[in-house]
Parts: sequence; structure tokens; C-alpha cells
Amino acid sequence: MRSTVLAAALLAFVGNVDAFYLPGAAPHNYVDGEKVDLFVNALTPMLSAKDDAKLKSLINYDYYHPNFRFCHPEGGMKKQPESLGSILFGDRIFNSPYDIHMLKENGTCRTLCTVEDVTGEDAKFINDRILEDYALNWLVDGLPAAEMKMDLRTGELFYDMGFNLGNDEGDYSDAPALNNHYEIVLQYHEPSPGTYRVVGVLVWPISIGGSQDGEPTCIDSGTALQLSDTQNQTIRYTYRVTWNESSIPWATRWDSYLRINDPRIHYFSLINSIVIVVFLCVMVSMILLRTVSRDISRYNAIDLSEDVQEDWGWKLVHGEVFRTPRWPMALSVMVGNGSQLSAMVMITLVFALLGFLSPSNRGSLATVMIVFWTLFGGISGYISSRVYASLGGTDRRKNAFFTATLFPTVVFVLVFMLNFFLFTAGSSGAVPFGTMLLVCVLWFGVSAPLSSVGAYFGNKHGSIPNPVRVNPIPRQIPPPPRYLQTWSSVLLAGLLPFGAAFVELYFVLSSLFASRAYYAFGFLTLTAGVVGLTTATVTILFTYFVLCAEEYRWQWRAFLTGGGSAIWLLAYGIFYWVSRMSLDSFTSVVLYLGYLLLLAILTFLVTGTIGFLASYWAVRRLYTAIRID
Ligand SMILES: *[C@@H]1O[C@H](CO)[C@@H](O)[C@H](O)[C@H]1NC(C)=O
Ligand SMILES: *[C@@H]1O[C@H](CO)[C@@H](O)[C@H](O)[C@H]1NC(C)=O
Ligand SMILES: *[C@@H]1O[C@H](CO)[C@@H](O)[C@H](O)[C@H]1NC(C)=O
Repeated sequence: MRSTVLAAALLAFVGNVDAFYLPGAAPHNYVDGEKVDLFVNALTPMLSAKDDAKLKSLINYDYYHPNFRFCHPEGGMKKQPESLGSILFGDRIFNSPYDIHMLKENGTCRTLCTVEDVTGEDAKFINDRILEDYALNWLVDGLPAAEMKMDLRTGELFYDMGFNLGNDEGDYSDAPALNNHYEIVLQYHEPSPGTYRVVGVLVWPISIGGSQDGEPTCIDSGTALQLSDTQNQTIRYTYRVTWNESSIPWATRWDSYLRINDPRIHYFSLINSIVIVVFLCVMVSMILLRTVSRDISRYNAIDLSEDVQEDWGWKLVHGEVFRTPRWPMALSVMVGNGSQLSAMVMITLVFALLGFLSPSNRGSLATVMIVFWTLFGGISGYISSRVYASLGGTDRRKNAFFTATLFPTVVFVLVFMLNFFLFTAGSSGAVPFGTMLLVCVLWFGVSAPLSSVGAYFGNKHGSIPNPVRVNPIPRQIPPPPRYLQTWSSVLLAGLLPFGAAFVELYFVLSSLFASRAYYAFGFLTLTAGVVGLTTATVTILFTYFVLCAEEYRWQWRAFLTGGGSAIWLLAYGIFYWVSRMSLDSFTSVVLYLGYLLLLAILTFLVTGTIGFLASYWAVRRLYTAIRID
């Protein structure tokens, strides 16, 4: 409710102040004949529209990769400035030789360039990429070039970003054919006489075979251009620009790109998860409230004058629950880093909901995530040091040090290794050295000092006092029932949050790996909230069972039980790989598994932290309520 009000207030603010635009969101007004730049981005493997289509690779290639032999601009190619997130997520944007001027050369067939001596080696590289369904990604005035497609179920037209490098099952034969002609349709809107804005970019690529010299026709000749990998050949690239007036205003020009594939699936997923949560929360609160309040009144009602007083259930372990667990250092470091990540996820979702992360700001999502993660360093230091002190740890300096460095180092080493694989595969997706350095500086130069500041304040506030004392001699622990053994409870408890999220997870994986745009942030936020709530309730429930079974070492169990959904995420990722991908290179497999592992680690930290903190809160409440003699 409050966020809607805030959003409305912000919208009103944005609406009132005409000159105020978010960075990158101001319209470019062109005059008749003004040059319109066409930029080329890296080529990405595309999931074709067929139902049984599988993703065949995960490696991006620079547009000017030497084997593609695309036409180079005259003055040499120039890299365009990009945001940090955009670079990390694989954008590599360059200028291009396309000569486009507002409303000029309408419908003229033009030759871009003729590339001679394309060797058999180049041809083999190009054919392999065509077979892997690679797509070209162009940008005109910030808009991606798209192919117009029709939704077979609804008959609705939509723009699918990117267009094919070639066809591998053309009308002519099964050999791959290279698209060497581009029909470019630029839709423009005229808000006031004499000013024009680009509101749509469509490209129909075709393959024109036959003779590659003489006057270009730009007409499908009936033969496709198939490259042979045994001899040198010539490719002529041609294009035709058509200017088409459109009634779409500039402000809504993204709408046809950002079509939610099938909103019904998202609604179904959301209803599914809400049902799970409501059911679960009602169950848990009923069980807990009724049994716990009964327990408490019975404990407190026992007549103190009796000599033999029989304790049972979770009260038995009151002298043990706050005993220092094994490895308090590792646990508190993980909780600290998990809190930092959770805070980052929350604020990112808020930003996404408010519409700040519009697709016209390329890479804004990743940039916002990194920046906030960095700024939230203080949270990890503070929470880690307080949890550490409360768990009975004593080596505060070591704790502050590990909190600030351990997790970034693990992530950095993993990313560095994946980068190495990308680099050896000749992919442009490898993060450039300068960007790596910048991320390093952000992590170790900003986040780590903030973490130490947080640790300083955490130490100042000290430990949270325990409501009951710890007995000097530890109790015997009876063997737990089967369903409460650590691994079975972790798997069992993880299933519910995972079940609430797995439909949405499918879309998230598709957007991460198959470069599909993701913009269902409303659904994502609600799903994230549901997952957080489910994780907290399930973990509290399991902690209660564990304590009732007289197993008092609940701290690590709470973290692992909370993080159980990460194991299901990993399993689902493998299922996604088997069912939706047929990766043909070792590098792609390593990349997929590496990124999946990273995703699972992050999920584990976040959900584990939620589980631990929720259980900690519940255990404190529980033992504050009973009377100990
Ligand atoms: C093919 O092209 C390469 C350079 O691109 C050249 O070195 C080679 O001599 C050419 N081969 C033939 C048979 O023309
Ligand atoms: C360009 O040509 C197309 C048809 O070929 C026509 O529909 C369109 O109006 C023309 N645009 C301009 C700006 O002349
Ligand atoms: C240009 O726009 C008109 C109507 O707006 C549409 O019918 C026509 O198909 C468009 N042309 C192209 C090439 O997209």
C-alpha cells in the first residue's frame, strides 16, 4: 500500500517536472536528414520460437570477431561507453558502417560492402554459429532491432529482440545459409512538425545467393547463400531502410518489445505460491500457538513444592539452547553476508517495481545490484559481529576480517575461473581487465571498509543477552527421529519455498541464460516475498520439532534448513539443462554449471540467513516465556 502511494507520488513528481528524466530516458529529437546511428552488440545464442527448441550455446561473440568478416566502419571501430552492469552482462557495443539518415533513402537498395576471400575456415566458423542459432543484436537510438513475430495462440504481433544470423533449415536445403541482406524498417513518430523520434526498429534478414557482384537487387533470388568450407568466396552485404510513420508515442515505444509472454502462467504461479503460503502460515501458527501456549502454561503451572519435577519437550533443553554451537565464526560470517545480500535483493526489487530499471537503461539491474551490495557492506559487518558475540565467539577481529573478505573472494575466484574459460573460447563475454579491477576496487575498497565500520558498531552494541542460562555440563542428545535427521529435514523443508517459486524460476533462468528480457518484476517481487515468508515459517517449525526431540544444536540446522531450497534450485537447474539445452561445447557446460552454482550459493546464503534469524527470534521468544527455577 505504502509503496503504491510512494510510486504515485514519484510519478506525479516525474510528470510535473517536464525537464526531469532518468538518465538515458530522455528522447532524442531528430530533424529531417540527421544521422541515425546504428550500433552493433555482441552476437548471442537465441532460443528459437519453436516449442521444443533448445539453447545450444552460452558464449557471446563480438560483432567484429575476425571470423565473422562483417563489414567494418570506415574510420575504424569504436567501442561505445557502457554501464558497469551492462559490461558484466556481456554487452559489447560498437559503431557500424550503416549509413542511415532520418527519412532519407527511403526504400533504396544499398550495398554495405563486399567481403572478398572469406576463407573456408571463416565459413566453417560462421556455419557453426548459424547451426547454434546465433542472433545479431543491433541498437538504434537505444532500441534493439527485433523481428516481428506472431503469437500462434493469440494471433497477437510482438517484437522479438535480435534476429537470426542465418537459417539452418531454409526452404532450399538443409545446409546453413547466411543472411546477407537486411530489410530494416524504422518506425518514427512526429510529435511536432519537423521533429522525429525513433519508436520501433524491425529487421527482416534474408539470404541472397547467386552472383555476389554487379548491381544489388535486394530481392530474394530463390537461392540462398551457403558458404563452403573448402574454398574462398565472396559475400556481399546489402540493406534497405524503410521509414514508416507510426502513431506510437515515444513514451510507450518499449511496450511492443516487453510483452509478457503469457501472463496467465505468472498468475498461475503466483496463486500457486500464495496458496502454499497461506496454508502453511495458518497451519504453522495454529500448531505453534496452540501447542506452545499449552506447553508454556503447563510448564509454568507445575507445582514447585513437588520434589520430583518431570520436565519434558523443549523445556528440557533450556539449559542448552544457547550453548555456543560448533564453528560460530563460519555461521556468523555466513549470516552477515546473507543479510547484506538480502538487503540488496530487497532494495533492487523496490527499484525494479518503481520502474527505475527500465530496459532502455541497459544493464541498470546489474549496476544497481552491485552498487547496493557494495553500499550495504556495513550491514554484513554489524550483523555478523553481533551474531558472533551472541553465539559466544570471542575473536572479534578475525570475525570482522573474514566477514569483509571471505565471500567476495569466493565469488571473485569463481567468476575469474569462468572468465578464463570464456577467454580461451574466444568469447567476447569475458569481462575486460579494467572492469574486473573496478569491481575489485568496489569490493575491497568500499564494501570491506564499510563492513569494518559495521563491525565496530556491532561490537559496541555487543551480544544479545540470552533469556536463559546455559548449564555448565552438556546434556546427552537422544538419536533424532528419521525425518529430523539433518539431511532429510533440509530437503523436506526446502521443498516448500522452492515449490512456491519454481514457475517464476523458469522465467528467471530463461532470461539469465537464453538472453530473454525479463520484466515481470511485480510477479518476481511477490514471489520473493512469498519465498522469504515460507522459508521463515518452515524453519521455525523444524526448529521447534528439533528442540522437542531434545536436540539442542539448532543453530546450524536452522541455517541449513532455511537454505534447503538452494539444493532444489541446483537440482532444478540440472533439470533445465537436460530439458531445455543441448550445449555442444565443454566451455558452455562449464559456464552453465558455474553460474548455476553461483546462483545456488547466493540463494543458500539468503534463505539460510532468513531461516537462522527467524529461528533465533522464535527460540528467544519461546524461552523468554517459560519460568525456569
Ligand atoms: C584465400 O584467402 C586468403 C586470405 O583471405 C589468401 O591468403 C589465400 O591465398 C586465398 N586462397 C585462394 C585459393 O585464393
Ligand atoms: C517510405 O516508403 C514506404 C513504402 O515503400 C511508404 O509507405 C512510406 O510512407 C515512405 N516513408 C516516407 C517517409 O516517405
Ligand atoms: C508501415 O505502416 C503501415 C501502417 O502503419 C503498415 O500497414 C505497413 O505494413 C508498415 N510497413 C512495414 C514495412 O512495416
